[in-house]
Amino acid sequence: MTPPLTPRSWLFIPGDSEKKLGKADASGADALILDLEDSVAPERKAEARRLVRAHLAARPGARDPLLYVRVNPLDVSALEDLAAVMPGAPDGIMIPKTDGAEDVARLSNWLDAFEAAHGIEPGRTRILPVATETAKGALRLATFAEVPLPRLVGLTWGAEDLSAALGASTNLGPDGEWALTYRIARSNCLLAAKAAGVAAIDTLYVDFRDDAGLRAASSAAADEGFEGRIAIHPAQVAGINAAFAPSEAALAHARRVIEAFEANPGAGTVGLDGKMIDIPHLRQARHVLGLHDALAARAAAKTPHAQGA
Ligand code: COA
Ligand code: MG
Repeated sequence: MTPPLTPRSWLFIPGDSEKKLGKADASGADALILDLEDSVAPERKAEARRLVRAHLAARPGARDPLLYVRVNPLDVSALEDLAAVMPGAPDGIMIPKTDGAEDVARLSNWLDAFEAAHGIEPGRTRILPVATETAKGALRLATFAEVPLPRLVGLTWGAEDLSAALGASTNLGPDGEWALTYRIARSNCLLAAKAAGVAAIDTLYVDFRDDAGLRAASSAAADEGFEGRIAIHPAQVAGINAAFAPSEAALAHARRVIEAFEANPGAGTVGLDGKMIDIPHLRQARHVLGLHDALAARAAAKTPHAQGA
C-alpha cells in the first residue's frame, strides 16, 4: 500500500469558461482548481457556479484529476459558492485571502453541515488555503501548526493579492526576483506547512510561455521542500509534474546513500564522495525512493484506464 500522493500540479480553470473546463480532463494535472473567485467577473459568478456544479456532477466518485473549487473569501460569498457546488462533492475547497487557522476552522464547520446535508462522508472535503494574501495571514502562518485541522491538505501562498493588500506597486525587486517581503511570506508558508504536517504548494509561475524558466524555478522549489505548484495554463503541467518527481540523478544519489549505510551497519554517519552524510540524509534518501515508488504505482494503476482496458 503506497501512501496517498500529494498532487504535484494544481491547474486553475476559470469556472465560467465552458471551453477551458472541457480541456481540463486531458491536461495531465494531478488536481484541477475550478475557480469561482478572481478569474471570474462579478456578472459571471452565477454562470460559473452553475458550470462548476455540472462539471462536478458529471464526474462522481473517485477522481483523477482531483477536483477542487476555489470559492470567494469567507466574508464575500463563500457560503453561496458552497451551497452551489457542495451537491457535486468536490474533493476539496481552496479558500483565498485567509487570515489564519481560524478561517480554515470556520470553513471546516460549514463543510460539516454541507456534507451532512448532501450525504457526503464526513471529513471527505479537504481544504487548501491561500495563506499569504492578507498582511494578517502572512504574519499568522504559524497558527496552522497550532490547532488540529484534519481537513487541511496543504498551504499555498500568493504574491499578487498580498502586494495589493500592502499598497505595493510591485512584488519584485530590482533583480526581477521576488522582493524580500514575498520571499519571507514564501519561506514562512513552507515552514508552516511542514510544521502543520501538510503539503507545501508553491505559487504560480506567471510567464506561461517560459517553459525552461518554469522548470528551473520548480526544480529549485522542489529542492527546498515544496511538494507541488499551482499552474495557470495546461502547458505548465508537464514541467511541474516532472520537477516535483525525483529526477534520475536524485534517485541514483538516494540509492548510493542507502548503499553507503548498508555497507556500514550500525553507523550513524558515513563518508560518501568525500562528504559526511548522516541520519537526516538517510531519511531524505528513503523519502525520495518512497515518492518515486508511489508515483510509479500511480502511473501503473492509470495505464489500463488510459488504454481503456
Ligand atoms: N485550463 C484549461 N484550458 C486552458 C487553460 C486553463 N487554465 N488556459 C488555456 N487553456 C486553453 C485555451 O482555451 C486554448 O484552447 P484552444 O487551443 O482550444 O483555443 C489553449 O489552452 C491555448 O491557450 P492560449 O491561447 O495559450 O492561452 P489563452 O491566451 O487562451 O489564455 C490565460 C491565457 C492566462 C487567460 C489562461 O491560461 C487562463 O485562463 N488561465 C487560468 C487563469 C486563472 O484561473 N487564474 C486564477 C488563478 S491566479
Ligand atoms: Mg488572487
